Amino acid sequence: MDQQSGAALFSASFKAHAFPAYAAMRAEGPAAGFTMPDGKRLWLVTRFAEASEMLKDQNRFVNDISNALTEEEYAALFQQSTEELTPEQQAMAALTDEVLSGQLLGVDPPDHSRLRRLVAIPFTPKYIEGLRPRIQAIADALLDAAEARAEATGRHEMELIDDFAYPLPLTVIAEMLGIPEEDRGRFREWSQAAVSFTPADRANRAMTGKLIEFIAYMQALVATKRADPGDDLLSGVVIAEMEGDKLSENELLSLIFILIVAGHETTVNLIANGMLALFEHPEEYARLRANPDLVRSAVEEMLRFYGPVEMSLTRWAREDAVFGGVQMQRGDQVMALLASANRDESRFPDPDRFDIAREPNRHLAFGTGIHACLGSALARMEGQIAFTTLLARLPGLAPAIPRDRIEWRDATFLRGLTRLPVTWDG
Ligand code: HEM
Repeated sequence: MDQQSGAALFSASFKAHAFPAYAAMRAEGPAAGFTMPDGKRLWLVTRFAEASEMLKDQNRFVNDISNALTEEEYAALFQQSTEELTPEQQAMAALTDEVLSGQLLGVDPPDHSRLRRLVAIPFTPKYIEGLRPRIQAIADALLDAAEARAEATGRHEMELIDDFAYPLPLTVIAEMLGIPEEDRGRFREWSQAAVSFTPADRANRAMTGKLIEFIAYMQALVATKRADPGDDLLSGVVIAEMEGDKLSENELLSLIFILIVAGHETTVNLIANGMLALFEHPEEYARLRANPDLVRSAVEEMLRFYGPVEMSLTRWAREDAVFGGVQMQRGDQVMALLASANRDESRFPDPDRFDIAREPNRHLAFGTGIHACLGSALARMEGQIAFTTLLARLPGLAPAIPRDRIEWRDATFLRGLTRLPVTWDG
């Protein structure tokens, strides 16, 4: 594909008609090549088998660009993108770069294994199961508040994202990490800045300014936990840092950063996108209402059908090699197009059909390999509780605006809605 269609793929309006475009790309081959505006090559791996293979192959594909380039090439790249900045801005760019790229998805083994081990236990299914009553209580409290507002105004309506889908996972991850309630309001802006940040934004003062603010906040939070550790996850990592050479200060900030951001921008979209899928398929919606036990497989189908993460983060080709039938060069950017892999007809019969009892349904919505989602057990439980509670408590839940006014957000890597106003029967 050429440069123009590459740019179109990353435009705001693309998500609305992405699936037929992905099907056309799969038909052409397992990997589609693009030339980005800066002249660099980007490969999108579109088919299920090759996308899984790519994500599992740490020898050929690395997450840390410095492992794919020579030291000189890497230094030149950073210098090129920061040479117009003042020395003070360059220092800020270096700090944001280190924190943003030092997180789990930016590093390779052995660093990756060491860092992931430090936070893995609280995310195991067994540990997460213990959070069920608390997550249920948070979901109920949010709907109590929505019902109280409806009672007061006589209008049974809410903004599903702002009033439910966003605060639910945010409260859960903030409580797990031990982030004080009064600080949580500032996270949305920071976290959105983080997911939309690209190296080209290094020269954008407003953007780097927000990230610097976020980093300063995390530094202050770490200092508080050091002085007075609690039994939360963050205190646990801070104690590990104080106890020895398990991780550096910037690695600690990177870990906190990825847990906040990844726990933030994803489950909200599982809930809202999943609700949209139910609204678009009234027979499946009725089936779930009649059979709440189907919630587990329904959530899996929502993840496959409208997964919150459209494509993996960037991997870098470590060597010149033929992969997916194309010739890749060392240093090329490669991504697994998860949304396409999850609609691959050779893996999922009738892939565009939304079937809440689909079986088998081993999708790629959480990625695979060593970087597979750390929070998948948590996200699944949040999704299951969200749908069971919404459907049980709000009869007649329906969109409050016509389908053509429900829009996908402009966020390349993610699939999420701008808003989803809903009504229910009084
Ligand atoms: C429905 C919700 C979620 C989806 C669809 C999702 C999806 C993903 C995907 C696709 C990846 C791999 C990306 C890649 O390989 O480039 C990933 C990684 C990750 N996710 Fe999630 N995620 C979700 C929720 C969460 C939650 C609640 C957390 C909790 C903190 C979380 C934490 C992480 C972390 C830390 C990684 C990096 C793992 C590593 O590099 O080892 N995610 N997620």
